[in-house]
Order: sequence, then structure tokens, then C-alpha cells
Amino acid sequence: MSVYILGIESSCDDTSAAVIEDTTILSNVIASQKVHAEFGGVVPELASRAHQQNIIPVIDTALKRAKINKNQLSAIAFTNGPGLLGSLLVGSSFAKAMAYSLDIPLIQVDHLQAHVLANFLQKPDNPKPVPSFPFLCLTVSGGHTLLLQVNDYFDMQRLGGTIDDAAGEAFDKAAKILGLPYPGGPVIDRYAKEGDPHRFQFAVSHLPGLDYSFSGLKTSFLYFVRDNLKKNPNFIEDNIHDLCASIQYAIVKSLTDKLIKALKHTECQDLVLAGGVSANSGLRDAATDIARRYHKNVFLPTLDLTTDNAAMIAVCGYFKYLQKDFVGVDIVPYSSERAR
Ligand code: KG4
Ligand code: ZN
Repeated sequence: MSVYILGIESSCDDTSAAVIEDTTILSNVIASQKVHAEFGGVVPELASRAHQQNIIPVIDTALKRAKINKNQLSAIAFTNGPGLLGSLLVGSSFAKAMAYSLDIPLIQVDHLQAHVLANFLQKPDNPKPVPSFPFLCLTVSGGHTLLLQVNDYFDMQRLGGTIDDAAGEAFDKAAKILGLPYPGGPVIDRYAKEGDPHRFQFAVSHLPGLDYSFSGLKTSFLYFVRDNLKKNPNFIEDNIHDLCASIQYAIVKSLTDKLIKALKHTECQDLVLAGGVSANSGLRDAATDIARRYHKNVFLPTLDLTTDNAAMIAVCGYFKYLQKDFVGVDIVPYSSERAR
């Protein structure tokens, strides 16, 4: 018998609801909050309010698109952390109330685990292969940068991570320096396609082991742009493509240097990307190339499943449903990354 899971995501600035049948997506509705654009970043108070306004229509649309009646749902899965507490509370409170009223199990999901498990989602009529355990997963988003060895659905071993900014933050801060809109990652990616990645060189930090640091890169980029603007006030406009291509190259190189290092020390055959930054075309190309050179298989989530969405929460919920890993209504959200 099929399992139908409703997933709810509200950890940051996207309100999303999805319905899946086993691991197949029936609907995946995302309301992205435009209200933050003029502030150049997410404003937590505004995010909570927008979630409150969006959550009922988004869930309603997800059920309608999936052609599922709420009484057919097997369980409700929601993001319990990490994220903005005010935002998480909206999704978790709604999930609790709905599961309670329908008398079905409630499942809490870790947002980062969900990004990884997005690689197990299927689209109707378009089956795709999924990674085999253990696999190496570079999880890169606006708030997190983690190199994981994934031994099983919920056994994810942290091999390394950022000691300061996340990779997505590095993209977004570089974009801000260039006067580009938030979120800057996709905009940099677009400009970079027509630029020369070797025109400007930016130092990539080399921490020992498998950890990352992006704050030095951001500072050197800021000083470089500022110094050149003194000589040519049109420096950014004149060089926007090369600037974007060069900073993207530096961020991707930093990510992939450690990925190669990790690959050399692992038995894993599969190399997997996850998180919003895995939408980046430079990173996707680099990971594909590395997999070819080291005779590994590469798994890249489809673009719509890289950034925050509720289908990934639902699939994480599905695997927990199989294990009967349910929670009570007294569960509380958490804001920061859990020790792994
Ligand atoms: O996973 P996600 O949607 O949210 C978090 O969990 O943080 O990731 C959002 C991040 C933002 O920093 C955004 O700029 C970045 O992913 N991003 C990209 C691209 N698309 C989204 N960064 C670089 N290139 C892209 N194409
Ligand atoms: Zn995310």
C-alpha cells in the first residue's frame, strides 16, 4: 500500500508544502518571500509573518495539485530545525495541529538531512538512479557547508565543514559587494557564464583537514573591488562578467579542493551534491569532472530540488515513517546545526 506524506518547510524565507507517494513527488509548492529583497537579506520578523500568511494557501494548493484528500495522508513531516525559530514555529505548529486533528503520526525532520535525502526523490514517469550507501555528500546552502559521509539515511558522519561563512553566504556577500540583488548566488552564476574565470585571482584559504573558510575570500574581494573603484568608478559595470566568473571560480575551487581530498581517503563510490549552492553551474560541472577523473558516480539533484522545498522534507519523513520514528506535540524546534 502506498504511503502518502505531507511535508512542510518553513525554516527560512520559503513557505513550502509537498505531497509524495512513497518517494515520488505528487506536488511541491513553494511561496518564496519577496519582502526581503529590498533589505539585502532575510529579516526574521518579516519571514515569520509571511509564513503565517502563506502556510494555509500553500498546503491547500499542495493537496489539490496532488489530487489527494487530507484523509488519505499517512503522516505529516515538518522541518524542526535548524533555522529561524519564529519561522520554524509557524510550520511546526501547523503540522502539529493538522496531525492531531487527523489523528495521524507527526514526524520531525532535520533540514540538512532533508537536503541530502532530496537525492532520493523521484518525479512521476521519470525514474532516476539514486546513490548507494556509503556516499560522499557535499551539502552547500545559504547557512551551511558540510562534507558528509552518508552511511545510511540517518547516519551522516561529518568529515568537515565551514569555520565561518557558508558557501551560499560567500556568494550572497560577493553579490552584495557588486550591488547585485539578494539572493546573489543565482545572479553571479548567470553573469559568470559569459565571463573569464581566470581574469582576476582571489586567494582560497587552505585550512588543514577538510574544513572550509570563506571569510578571508570575502574580505579580499571587498578590498579588491573597493581599490579598483577608486581608479575607475565604472569598474564593476565594465567587468561584471569576469568579476562574477572569477569569484565563482574561487568559491568552487575551495569547495572542490576539499572534495578531492575527501575522495582520496574514502571507499565511497558515489559523489553527491545537496543544498541551494548545488544549483551552481560551475560547481555542478566541477563535480561531474571530478567524478569522471576519479572513476566515481556523480548524483546532482534536479535544479528545483537544490534550494529549499518541502518535497525533501516529505522524503525524509517517508524514511522515518518506515522506521516508525514519530514525535509528540511537545517537540520544540531548534535553531542551530546539530552535532553530527
Ligand atoms: O538551500 P537553500 O535554499 O537555503 C538554505 O538552507 O540556506 O540555499 C540558498 C543559498 C543562497 O545563499 C543562494 O544564493 C544559493 O543557495 N544559491 C546559489 C545558486 N542558487 C542558489 N549559489 C550559487 N549559484 C546558484 N545557482
Ligand atoms: Zn536549505
